[in-house]
Amino acid sequence: MAMNEQSLLRFITCGSVDDGKSTLIGRLLHDTGSLTDDQRGASGAIPDFAALLDGLEDERTQGITIDVAYRQFATPLRRFIVADCPGHEQYTRNMATGASTADLAVVLVDARKGLLPQTLRHTAIVAMFGVRRVVLAVNKMDAVGWSRDVFEGIVSDYCGRLKQLHAELTFEAIPLSGLTGDNVAEPSARMAWCSGSTLLRTLEDAEIMLPDTGSAFRMPVQWVNRLPDGRGYAGTVVAGTIKAGDSLRVEPAGTEAQVAHVFGLDREIESATQGDAITLVLDRELDVSRGDVLCSTDVPAPTSDQFSTHVLWMDSEPLLPGRSYTMQIGTRSVRAALTTLKHRLDVESGAHLSATQLRMNEIGSCEWHLDHPVAFEAFADNRELGGFILVDRHSNVTAGAGVIDFALRRSGNLHWQSLQVDRAARARIKGHRGRCIWLTGLSGAGKSTIADAVEAQLNLRGVHTYLLDGDNVRHGLNRDLGFTAADRVENIRRVAEVARLMVDAGLVVLVSFISPFRAEREMARELFAPGEFLEVFIDTPLSVAESRDSKGLYAKARAGQLPNFTGIDSPYEPPEHPELHLDAGGQSVAESTRAILDLLD
Ligand code: ADX
Repeated sequence: MAMNEQSLLRFITCGSVDDGKSTLIGRLLHDTGSLTDDQRGASGAIPDFAALLDGLEDERTQGITIDVAYRQFATPLRRFIVADCPGHEQYTRNMATGASTADLAVVLVDARKGLLPQTLRHTAIVAMFGVRRVVLAVNKMDAVGWSRDVFEGIVSDYCGRLKQLHAELTFEAIPLSGLTGDNVAEPSARMAWCSGSTLLRTLEDAEIMLPDTGSAFRMPVQWVNRLPDGRGYAGTVVAGTIKAGDSLRVEPAGTEAQVAHVFGLDREIESATQGDAITLVLDRELDVSRGDVLCSTDVPAPTSDQFSTHVLWMDSEPLLPGRSYTMQIGTRSVRAALTTLKHRLDVESGAHLSATQLRMNEIGSCEWHLDHPVAFEAFADNRELGGFILVDRHSNVTAGAGVIDFALRRSGNLHWQSLQVDRAARARIKGHRGRCIWLTGLSGAGKSTIADAVEAQLNLRGVHTYLLDGDNVRHGLNRDLGFTAADRVENIRRVAEVARLMVDAGLVVLVSFISPFRAEREMARELFAPGEFLEVFIDTPLSVAESRDSKGLYAKARAGQLPNFTGIDSPYEPPEHPELHLDAGGQSVAESTRAILDLLD
């Protein structure tokens, strides 16, 4: 840990709705003289701090995709930037953004209510995102008669919960009232029993603990610019220093060069250090693109494609093992699949619970597999290279945020074996190429019947085929899986991998699975070369499929005896751009079969 000379404290405030957060921040701004005359009003009195805050002009940053209001104020001793995060459940996403740049968190508690689940959730979140110091602001002391017992009860409760959470946090507690100002900027005469300092004093005195990012140079490349004397690599230095003549290594490629020039915003500079936005020109042409990390050659950043992490999930759609997301880490975007959900954190007891999915606002321990290696650092060493966000690949919303704990070495000793016989050689023997025809649709839509008819026709033509059918595969390879969303994701992941092997072997594979989720059908498509994967939507209206009810399952589902039934109480997401869209409710099996054979030809 290093002391920071410049006296700027970044902190985040968190609390539940109605804990009095805006009033408290308003009070801080007022009592430090940080309000303009306009905001102060003619009389000088400000009865309603909350309303006042709404009127303040927010300095908003775009964060990664998230809005957090940052407010600034100052005292003679120090400048402050406070990330003000709304307290509603759905705003934990703002907290992840605010916390990952904060030195300290002010956690608000309403003295009348004591600790709430939200208080513990917010504490766990700020701890996860690197905040090491908490000020527990026990607010509304005026409403509990300035009671020492109430305050001490809350403090000892919090102390116990922190132990359970195993959060690496130091904390101090302050009894105060945002409304009356007691113990905010001025010591409280009404709480003479409290020997500690005021909130403002505590914020002024707080030592700024920055993670020791080490001296080894790190810069994620943000842009590649064409300059007169070569290509310029622009980015922000996240660790170490750099000057002309230094050797650099590009990770994850591992190529090396020397720095020819260092440019600041508008001119060439001698050297640059952590936090500087610069452009580097190298002494030779290398293949460098956005997302690569320029590192010192002595201590290059490690690279890996498998990680153990902690994730805060922020989307209403749960996080499911087997599903892929876009991971943005540093300036790089990669595709990442959740391979294992090790456990979920119960924020109230600190227990690690087994889980099959993570829901909104839950924290879990997660292992990821990336489709490309990336340069990284553990989050504890470097927030920029160890923090990431997860973006839903379909909706493009930020669905989660996380921190890297460590890389997994599992795949480090695995390599693709290059083989003499490839798919082209196999196709020559068979006289046709491998293909995957993926039939998706409701139960009873007619997938299996149509797939069976297509396979029979292909067989007559001497085409080597195989039909993977949901009901059948669930008797063997996937017999451990049920019909929860998580199990369906894994069901499709496995069958997609099997289909890929079969296509590689040269077969025309028919896959007949409900495969209700777009994300997994996209994942399947991406396993194949362009043109190899043909998605066929067997579009039969629910009413028609239900009236057929060949297996009697709809009747059971309607009677409540079969939970999670697709189309009844489990969703079906129709394809948006299938290669073929068949109106299987209206046309005959023969017509549908012909259409698929035409598509193949
Ligand atoms: S998928 O959703 O995971 O792709 P899959 O195609 O493997 O489903 O299996 C669907 C078959 O399982 C259906 O044709 C039906 O016979 C049977 N089944 C049993 N329970 C369910 C359920 N809850 N929802 C859908 N199908 C079910």
